[in-house]
Amino acid sequence: MVRTAAEDRLLSEVLRTFQNTPNPRLLEIVEAAVRHLHAFVDETKLTHDEWMMGIDFLTKVGKFSDPTRQEFILLSDVMGVSSRVETVSYAGAPGSTEATVLGPFYIPGSPKKQNGDSVIINDDGTPRLRVSGVVRSLDGTPIPGATVDVWQTATNAMYPVQDESQDPNNLRGYFTTDANGRYEFITTRPVAYPVPVDGPAGAFLKATGRHPMRAAHIHLIVAAPGCYPVTTHIFDAESDYLDSDAVFGVRDSLIKKFEKLPDGSYTVNFDITLTPSK
Ligand code: BEZ
Ligand code: FE
Repeated sequence: MVRTAAEDRLLSEVLRTFQNTPNPRLLEIVEAAVRHLHAFVDETKLTHDEWMMGIDFLTKVGKFSDPTRQEFILLSDVMGVSSRVETVSYAGAPGSTEATVLGPFYIPGSPKKQNGDSVIINDDGTPRLRVSGVVRSLDGTPIPGATVDVWQTATNAMYPVQDESQDPNNLRGYFTTDANGRYEFITTRPVAYPVPVDGPAGAFLKATGRHPMRAAHIHLIVAAPGCYPVTTHIFDAESDYLDSDAVFGVRDSLIKKFEKLPDGSYTVNFDITLTPSK
């Protein structure tokens, strides 16, 4: 793409106006945003009407957002930006458990549980799944006292915050690893489910011919003193949508086979490796 002298002049002029920004990181981000936005307009030869449609769309995204529904985050999710931010900002060294998106349904303050406890409050008859594993440091040493905060949807494809028929603490819990670094909990086998499509992000997916489905997963945030925490998922290897997850959250290393036991329940082992922070 060739930029004219006038376009170059405009960009330099705009960039110059930010030169007195006292915070160097703010300056770096603002300059990059302006450069990329100008390049976007140049590349697409954006018309005035298209620019206005974009403004209208973003206005709708803002108006749809409130303290319990952040449509800008959902838009960022379905454009793969959140996934990128998670990867770029993750402090974990190679060999540590990969990070993926947090999603909008994380609520701090999950009920504290003992290892082996169930997180099922509203039992809908879905097959049970036992999740267990060891939290280790990069050098392989098990970490006692690491915290494992877990949450997932019910079989009706909804998180308790989306669904008044569920107890607010259904399918979530806060576990602590034992002296050998082990954690374990009982839950239901997760299902694939759609991201919310009742707002502008849903209209965006429809207009671009995309489906809204996420591959079946369990969310975890694992933390330990002296280590970088990891926000991650366990994905069911037999789920649909592993290769087309609507928010680009799938990482190969997080896909696990859920083994079926003779009683019809499932079990999965998911070990976690954290990077020391000092
Ligand atoms: C989730 O996995 O909970 C989620 C992530 C991004 C958008 C919507 C839902
Ligand atoms: Fe989820």
